[in-house]
Amino acid sequence: MTQDELKKAAALAALEYVEDGTIVGVGTGSTVNHFIDGLASIKDRIAGAVSSSEASSQRLAAHGIALRDLNDITDLPVYVDGADEIDAGLSMIKGGGGALTREKIVAAVATRFICICDATKRVEPLGRFPLPVEVIPMARAYVERRLYALGGKPVLRTGFVTDNGNQILDVHGLRITAPHALESELNQIVGVVSNGLFAHRGADILLLATSTGVERLVRR
Ligand code: 5RP
Repeated sequence: MTQDELKKAAALAALEYVEDGTIVGVGTGSTVNHFIDGLASIKDRIAGAVSSSEASSQRLAAHGIALRDLNDITDLPVYVDGADEIDAGLSMIKGGGGALTREKIVAAVATRFICICDATKRVEPLGRFPLPVEVIPMARAYVERRLYALGGKPVLRTGFVTDNGNQILDVHGLRITAPHALESELNQIVGVVSNGLFAHRGADILLLATSTGVERLVRR
């Protein structure tokens, strides 16, 4: 199977976690695009979707799936999203698509986070994939200096502006053995909007597509 076929297998497996009559939280990326396409086939059974990016909103709308405002919602049973890396504790690096802040917000509201990945995303420890950090533009150079002091090598994602009007620093060279602590430390840097470590709010269930099928791992 190709990597894209594996992404699709994981995405379609997530459909069974969608509860009838509820609003569904929807992440961002090529794996989630398969989930959105699958969601279209059961759109009459759901009450709509909350989206984590303009790109996902456009795809949902193109399928005729009603978009809901997160501020109007208190009950979001399930959030489905991909990851760039995921470890044994179901902590993740996310934000390869630059949507980390809105993804983190929607995930915070959701009761369960279902992560959908192909097998290449399962790593130990996190950090081979550069960690995205969303920054307020005027703070970029200051945040870069702080990231160097932590042992990382930040690289500005050129030609890219987030849906929130900010910039992304991709931090190379981190070996992340304590994701909870690093997530908290990065959040303390003034000018950081959010970082791509999802440890405090990690995944509850990982649907990992391998060549022999989709494995289900539950957060302990
Ligand atoms: C976007 C994300 C994505 O979930 C992550 O980059 C994985 O993307 P893909 O499914 O295309 O491999 O965090 O901000």
